[in-house]
Amino acid sequence: MPEENDKYPESSGRRRFVKGVVGSASLAGIGTGAATAINSATSPSGAGGGITQFMAMENTAGPAPRGMPQVPIEVDSEGYLKGVWPEVKTVTQQGREVKVAEMNLGGVTYTSEWFQYCGVQTYPGVAPDADQDNYLRYTGNSKFEWQNEEVEKGAKVHVDDFADYETWGNGIGSSGIGKPAMTTWRSQDVPPSGTMVVQVIRSTKVEKMADKGDKWLQASTDQGFIANLNKCTHFCCVPSFKGLAGSAVAGATDMIYCQCHQSVYDPFNIVKKSFVALPRPEDD
Ligand code: FES
Repeated sequence: MPEENDKYPESSGRRRFVKGVVGSASLAGIGTGAATAINSATSPSGAGGGITQFMAMENTAGPAPRGMPQVPIEVDSEGYLKGVWPEVKTVTQQGREVKVAEMNLGGVTYTSEWFQYCGVQTYPGVAPDADQDNYLRYTGNSKFEWQNEEVEKGAKVHVDDFADYETWGNGIGSSGIGKPAMTTWRSQDVPPSGTMVVQVIRSTKVEKMADKGDKWLQASTDQGFIANLNKCTHFCCVPSFKGLAGSAVAGATDMIYCQCHQSVYDPFNIVKKSFVALPRPEDD
């Protein structure tokens, strides 16, 4: 083969290889070590995005590239559940003022970028200063019968609704592992297509995890409640914990299961991960 013909495929192959590495890093999440220096809540454009470390419910099986982001939870003085939203501040980046939502929570840099994937980056509620109260409210038409029968769509989630969490079961997997609900967050007066869906679980396992002294778990869980943004990191379906008897095919009756392509997440194993957060639309 002439030398000039030989060179081109080699160089082309190398380019493909480099692109492949970058592409798979974007999809699959990257090593956490490389991301420590890049944790700003916004890019220079002011619209956020970029390499972001986050705390995830571990992905244990299936094609999902990484875990789903935790939503830190707090119970207010009247027993209602809220998702913690990072502090909003204005910073100057490259000569212009931009809003960021970022705080230190339990030794972790928690930012609104954790939720910027699967289109959520365009949802009104993910804007740092969206006018929202952060309370979790029940969805309608839930996969959980107890929720459809016992609480109203749109009602604020209350700790008393989970009083039986230590024994609750619905015939899927074991009873007493945890009681789930589907909720909305930062989505009051927002179109359904822009609604942030958060799954909340109350479990004695979460209480035990927090009791072990981990600062993040102590800061992000409350009275056994743990929560996640409920978008599968594979192709953005809506998974559930004990929402589907078919989860048995993946051995996931006591896990979070995504029926689209059988990804499994462990809500009781929280891991630190990185991913490339997508930018929000430009700030006004
Ligand atoms: S496993 Fe494919 S979207 Fe969840």
